[in-house]
Amino acid sequence: MNAPFVSPIKELLDDLHARLTDRRDGEVATYIPELGKADPEWFGIAVATLDGTLYEAGDTQVPFTIQSVSKPFVYALALQDRGLEDVLKSVGVEPTGDAFNAVRLEPSTGRPYNPMVNSGAIVASTLVGGDTHDERRDRVLRGLSAFAGRDLEVDAKVMTSESATGDRNRALAYLMHGAGILTCPVEEALALYFEQCAALVTTRDLAVMTATLAGGGVNPLTGETVVSVEAAANALTVMATCGTYDYAGEWLVRAGLPAKSGVSGGLIAALPSQLGLGAFSPRLDARGNSVRAVAACEELSARFGLHVMRPTERSGPVFHRTLRGDTAHSSRVRAHDERTALARLGGALRVYALRGDLAFGNAEAVVRTISEDTDSVRWVVLDLKRAGRVAPVAATLLEGLAAKLKERGITTVIVDPEKRVRVPSAIIVDTRDAGMELCEDALLAEAGAARPTVPLAEQDLLRGLDPFMVTALEAYLETREYETGERLIQDVAALCFIISGGLARQVIIGERAVRETSMGPGTAVGRLALIDDAEHAHRIVAECPTTCRVLTTQSLARLERDSPRLADALRWSIANAVAERLRRTDAENHALIH
Ligand code: DON
Repeated sequence: MNAPFVSPIKELLDDLHARLTDRRDGEVATYIPELGKADPEWFGIAVATLDGTLYEAGDTQVPFTIQSVSKPFVYALALQDRGLEDVLKSVGVEPTGDAFNAVRLEPSTGRPYNPMVNSGAIVASTLVGGDTHDERRDRVLRGLSAFAGRDLEVDAKVMTSESATGDRNRALAYLMHGAGILTCPVEEALALYFEQCAALVTTRDLAVMTATLAGGGVNPLTGETVVSVEAAANALTVMATCGTYDYAGEWLVRAGLPAKSGVSGGLIAALPSQLGLGAFSPRLDARGNSVRAVAACEELSARFGLHVMRPTERSGPVFHRTLRGDTAHSSRVRAHDERTALARLGGALRVYALRGDLAFGNAEAVVRTISEDTDSVRWVVLDLKRAGRVAPVAATLLEGLAAKLKERGITTVIVDPEKRVRVPSAIIVDTRDAGMELCEDALLAEAGAARPTVPLAEQDLLRGLDPFMVTALEAYLETREYETGERLIQDVAALCFIISGGLARQVIIGERAVRETSMGPGTAVGRLALIDDAEHAHRIVAECPTTCRVLTTQSLARLERDSPRLADALRWSIANAVAERLRRTDAENHALIH
């Protein structure tokens, strides 16, 4: 039994989590007395992708009250229910550079500056759909639950604790009520807001909720459309400019992601179209942001290359083609026994041809897809020939994948003719064909199915002949030994049976000899010379010390005279072999096209 596959992404999170656990600076918030009971050591990090995959490290299941992290979600619900223009009449979208609880409203309108500061959030909660206070309460809690993909509960103690001590928010609400911005009774608005802040979530929930915003309002776990693309995008935009209050500018420069923090120690950050991040640890810095969570998100952003202002790699479908070694083969011409073995054992070889630019999003999909299908796999060929730009994180993840596969005895071969990626745990080759051939050879050798030597009687071309005919033919053949790199002279050797070693067929392109295919023991070269005598544009070269039995043109002429029946039988078996080869090539082409 293999140990369960640990994703390199998970390992990265674990490593980050372990390092940041040493950070013990900052203070747990106590101005809401109940919050002071939090364990300062709690620390969770979670990443949710848009297809609902979760990567987590640490205390990602510990429930805590969401506090200000609820603000972008409730704002998105208000946008969904009222539309941007209507909401803008009561809440602006301008950053303040002030603390979250600043008592400051737009001088001309009395509007709060934005929905991320307390004043704006208190108004925004009252703008969600519903005719009565209870309907709006229901809408807020159900809405937050839809973002999380599960039913959230409210921590009544924290809610009561905040209500008992929340005079600053109360003061803000009265000011806004006085200015005609807050139209419902002050205590109703505060009750709604305190309840939303006291909703219990986990770090995992935060990642899923944020991935819902990043995915245009669709929850990646439930598939539910929680808010429109516009509402989600507008919420993310205000998070980008105002989400971390008087740290918003520096945060955006450093992490480059729309984010929102809360006084219980939660922090979210989103990469639109790719992922949602959630982090939680109760100790806060002077600006009310979690020390560890900020550090975790900033580092993850840097490691994964997530900064939205930097050029990113286009994402899109990443698998151009996937093949299995039992139905698709390299172009090496192999003898019957090896072909049969490959048809039987080739499932252990998987070929993935990738396309498009590789960034975190699609590299993650590659790592996951390949790692989820490793049962009975021993060789993986990853063809990057059609891939475009490869982001550093993609190369890092491919190396992580190759290292993991190696641990479970799986060899990774990467086709990268331009040597763009550095993946020390993989074998790098120039063509998919060379990669497949290498894996097939290893597979056959490991299964004891390789045929390094194939005697004359077992040669593919002669299998159909009566044994006495093979013995008769022997008298016309001479043995030739070729050294590595030695070229075969075609017109001397009409037909050349490979007994051991291997030959390659090269074509000359300009000045360069390009290897087209190779042939192994048991197969023959020059078969067509017995049928026609056309000139061939290729040349045959020994790839290693090779022994052949050769029928020269002179011996062939002798054979025709001495034994026309044997010459005929030989021609027939060549015709059959050529026909069979054509049928196989057709079937393989068919498999490639469809
Ligand atoms: O209104 C308050 O003070 C809290 N319910 C929420 C404040 C908060 O989370 C600010 N975030 N950094």
